[in-house]
Amino acid sequence: MYNSKAIILPNFMSDIKPIVIANWKMKLGLQEAKSLASDIKNKVTAQIEVAVCPSFISLTEVGKIFSGSNIKLGGQDCFWEANGAFTGEVSAKELKEVGCEFVILGHSERRKYLGETDEMVHKKVSQALAAGLMPIICVGETFEQRQQGAKDYVLIQQTTKALEGLEINASQQVIIAYEPVWVIGSGQAIDPNEAAAAHQVIYQSLFDLFPSDIVKNNFRIVYGGSVDETNVSDFTNLDKTSGVLVGGASLNINDFLAIIKNV
Ligand code: 13P
Repeated sequence: MYNSKAIILPNFMSDIKPIVIANWKMKLGLQEAKSLASDIKNKVTAQIEVAVCPSFISLTEVGKIFSGSNIKLGGQDCFWEANGAFTGEVSAKELKEVGCEFVILGHSERRKYLGETDEMVHKKVSQALAAGLMPIICVGETFEQRQQGAKDYVLIQQTTKALEGLEINASQQVIIAYEPVWVIGSGQAIDPNEAAAAHQVIYQSLFDLFPSDIVKNNFRIVYGGSVDETNVSDFTNLDKTSGVLVGGASLNINDFLAIIKNV
């Protein structure tokens, strides 16, 4: 349904500190995670928001290392129920208990390898919000979808289905991460202008779902996909873009520091 609010595009986000989120995926063992976390705690001094999302196994130890610092902690997933007989799953509340403030949801690797659907992502977002976590909802088109001209459709669908029907109150925050699936891990990020256009489409979807003051104050959009020290500022300088979600380049302390420096 057409929503007249959707055409209001205020000049927002200019006063928000950028965020750099590290997604360590399943790439570090516990000792490696602890070592990198110590380096990050000791060497990151920039006044921007930095969040690190280790694997479940490493969360507690990495959280201990970050305690007393400004570095924030996030999970890479949570289950869509609050509690119960769900062998192998981890609840949003458990993430909160070990000190997480964020949780990545609907990452394309989970959609691809674990059959995660928009409906599952929606329920996970709901659990995350109920537990007091900030969801980082990943959306993005595959190469095939792009070739079919379905990019905008995919972004609208994934954004809408993740959030439709949820109440976002003034104290809750949500991050949408635009990650074009085909550039993840490729070493070649997309043209920043293309990211800007995608972010505009995502914002349009948000304005169709929520009051404009909630979109303005409670949502952020970040870009992810082969972000490195050479391209990060191209993305963080974009209008309506609040930061980056970094995979590979967050695993090496010097690369990660260079990204933070260049934001
Ligand atoms: P890369 O930075 O390795 O492309 O990974 C991006 C990503 O998937 C972050 O969630």
